[in-house]
Amino acid sequence: MHKLTICRHPLVQDKLACLRDKKTSPQEFRRRMSELSSLMAYQVLGTLKTQIAKVSTPLQAASCQVLAQPVVFVAVLRAGIGLLEGLLHVAPEAKVGYIGLYRNEETLNPVRYYIRLPKGLNKSYVVLVDPMLATGGSAAEAVQILKSYGAKQISFLCLIAARAGVRRMAQAHPDVPVFTAGVDATLNRKGYIVPGLGDAGDRLFGTF
Ligand code: PRP
Ligand code: URA
Repeated sequence: MHKLTICRHPLVQDKLACLRDKKTSPQEFRRRMSELSSLMAYQVLGTLKTQIAKVSTPLQAASCQVLAQPVVFVAVLRAGIGLLEGLLHVAPEAKVGYIGLYRNEETLNPVRYYIRLPKGLNKSYVVLVDPMLATGGSAAEAVQILKSYGAKQISFLCLIAARAGVRRMAQAHPDVPVFTAGVDATLNRKGYIVPGLGDAGDRLFGTF
């Protein structure tokens, strides 16, 4: 059971256009990415469990819903860092983990170099974040790592997904829903999404 959700909200699409634009500076790129992740948080966190709680208003008791599950955001380094600020803006109580992966330039296979995850993943609603889903190798590997640390409920948030990456995730992890702002048709010979937005990490941190 695999689910792909494309966030089609006009504000999301407008900000994505800004990220794609090669004239956008790293400063503007960071700001837009953060805004995008705040907007997309509403969808990706839409199935969080809640429980009934009694709250006393100044007038009387009200039956309310409060979060019943810890939230954990896990950023794939480097580019996933750009999505954290916006997510933490709307869910400041969330814990944060990091998975360091880079793609081998020849094979395009992910290489692990860092893992630091909060405890209690098995009871948490875990959102793995990386702006780019290209071949899908990095996301599939990161989900595998999360599962090996006990995570049971995982969603994947990206900004642009290539069709190949969506297919790979569906095959490797059919239980993990994918949320994206756009789906692009192709990858070039170097594994970049076309049209995409270029190298997300480089554009975010100005390393070009
Ligand atoms: C980028 C991106 C993803 C990965 C996607 O990271 O942030 O992690 O590529 O490609 P895939 O779906 O084919 O695995 P990159 O390896 O360039 O590392 P960086 O963020 O450190 O620049
Ligand atoms: N990583 C990126 O940053 N961009 C792509 O298009 C593919 C992988």
